Amino acid sequence: MGIEKCKIIELPKIKDKRGNLTFIESKRHIPFEIKRVYYLYDVPGGEKRGGHAHKKLQQLIIAVSGSFDVILDDGFERKRFHLNRSYYGLYVCPMIWRELNNFSSGSVCLVLASELYEEEDYIRDYGTFKSYIEINIKGEGKTQNGNLK
Ligand code: TYD
Repeated sequence: MGIEKCKIIELPKIKDKRGNLTFIESKRHIPFEIKRVYYLYDVPGGEKRGGHAHKKLQQLIIAVSGSFDVILDDGFERKRFHLNRSYYGLYVCPMIWRELNNFSSGSVCLVLASELYEEEDYIRDYGTFKSYIEINIKGEGKTQNGNLK
């Protein structure tokens, strides 16, 4: 579940003088089935979002309008991605701590998610996240089917 799995995916872009069009198909352009879509908007200047990890959720984060930064952290390495194009999506695999900041005025952050909303999937404390990572490395944190406990 390392940060190297998180990457920018270039989405299809149909250029047209009437305006451009981008589309996303489950498991074709992104490696998961889309079960939920949500978006962040009207984010006041200087505000931060995120500040948590997910046990099994996969996501694609897109700046459909404006720009913002996404900071990803797998417990060992931290990377900052600046999203500012509506045809680029950032794929985030499970067990990655994320923070979003530097929102431009009027920006919209669209998120495609692999699961329905489930509060139990969140890890909202960084120390707890680090201990999950350590337990996982020792191989103690998984059930027989490989899912995190
Ligand atoms: P949260 O995921 O913490 O926001 P962010 O990571 O973007 O800063 O969610 C904020 C609140 O919204 C929290 O009370 C849970 C609720 N929520 C839902 O009810 N459904 C959803 O799909 C999402 C993403 C959040």
